[in-house]
Amino acid sequence: MSVPQPLLDVRDLRVEYSTRRGTMHAVDGISFTVEKGQHLGLIGESGCGKTTTGRALLRVLPRNGRVGGGQMFFKERDLVTLSEREMRALRWREISMVPQSSMDTLDPVYRVGDQLREVLTLRGGMNNAEARARSAELFDLVGLASDRLDNYPHEFSGGMRQRAVIAMALALNPDLVIADEPVTALDVIVQHQVLETFRDLQERLGISVIMITHDISVVAETCDEIAVMYAGKIMERAPVRRFFAMPFHPYALGLQNAFPNLARPKETLISIEGYPPDLVEPPKGCRFNTRCPFAIERCFVEEPPLIEVEPGHQAACHRWREVEQLREQAKEAETWQSVA
Ligand SMILES: Nc1ncnc2c1ncn2[C@@H]1O[C@H](COP(=O)(O)OP(=O)(O)OP(=O)(O)O)[C@@H](O)[C@H]1O
Ligand code: SF4
Ligand SMILES: [Mg+2]
Repeated sequence: MSVPQPLLDVRDLRVEYSTRRGTMHAVDGISFTVEKGQHLGLIGESGCGKTTTGRALLRVLPRNGRVGGGQMFFKERDLVTLSEREMRALRWREISMVPQSSMDTLDPVYRVGDQLREVLTLRGGMNNAEARARSAELFDLVGLASDRLDNYPHEFSGGMRQRAVIAMALALNPDLVIADEPVTALDVIVQHQVLETFRDLQERLGISVIMITHDISVVAETCDEIAVMYAGKIMERAPVRRFFAMPFHPYALGLQNAFPNLARPKETLISIEGYPPDLVEPPKGCRFNTRCPFAIERCFVEEPPLIEVEPGHQAACHRWREVEQLREQAKEAETWQSVA
């Protein structure tokens, strides 16, 4: 019996930008999979390569960017090797994106419904009547009343604009939606409502989502799997529940300390001191070594591979076998202050 292939299978993906200072290795050999209907949270602090990964998948990198290596199998075709024409046919229809800050880029002089219909007619080849019917259906899907199709963007709240952009991404019924920080600019209550829309999609339509975010609570709320990025690498990958119950990587321990939850009120949050490394000249050894309170000599010479630490759970840390002790130490603020 043949094993079903994941919807998306990214292997050793590398993405580089040419800069005046040299080649920046923004994504430096990452591997992950997304199954049909699965929601993967891609998390990490600013500059770690989340947007670059999303844009590489759709092959819409900025001019100075390029895929420098690796493979991206989507329904068993390698996106790296498809022609531009094949990619054009695939965008929106099979993989679509809610780009970072996109709710602010709706055209202010066109009605929201017209902008949605344009996607349906120009990219989806629908006639006007079909596009009208599908627009109403899409608005309903994302929790907007269809009489709002005639509104201009300024007549929408932030949450409504974000839903409209999500409706556009769903317009042509894609298998995979890459949502880049879709709730970052929204207040907490609206965030929750928009995330509920994503959960709904999973239950009703079985659409896969890569949820790009710097906010660990967004992943907790909507995702099945998590991949933690740091400085262009994946440091930990796990089912979400397992990740929160048993994190393995010191960066993940730090991240979990830095976000409030029921057991950890705001006043007890601990931040990770320092900044990520320069990706034009990445450091030797572990990329987290300058900020890690548990770094040992080996961490400055040898890069830790991403290995399976329990079934279905991977981490890249030389000290993963001592994790129980590290977890205890990571709870203390002094542990993290000692690195500064
Ligand atoms: N066009 C570009 N030219 C050069 N460097 C770039 C370019 N776009 C992004 N970078 C750099 O690549 C790295 C990864 O950027 P990316 O936008 O993917 O990060 P991110 O994780 O999405 O961050 P954020 O959370 O701030 O959105 C960063 O160091 C960034 O400065
Ligand atoms: S490999 Fe070393 S520096 Fe990197 S996270 Fe593990 S202990 Fe810290
Ligand atoms: Mg980004």
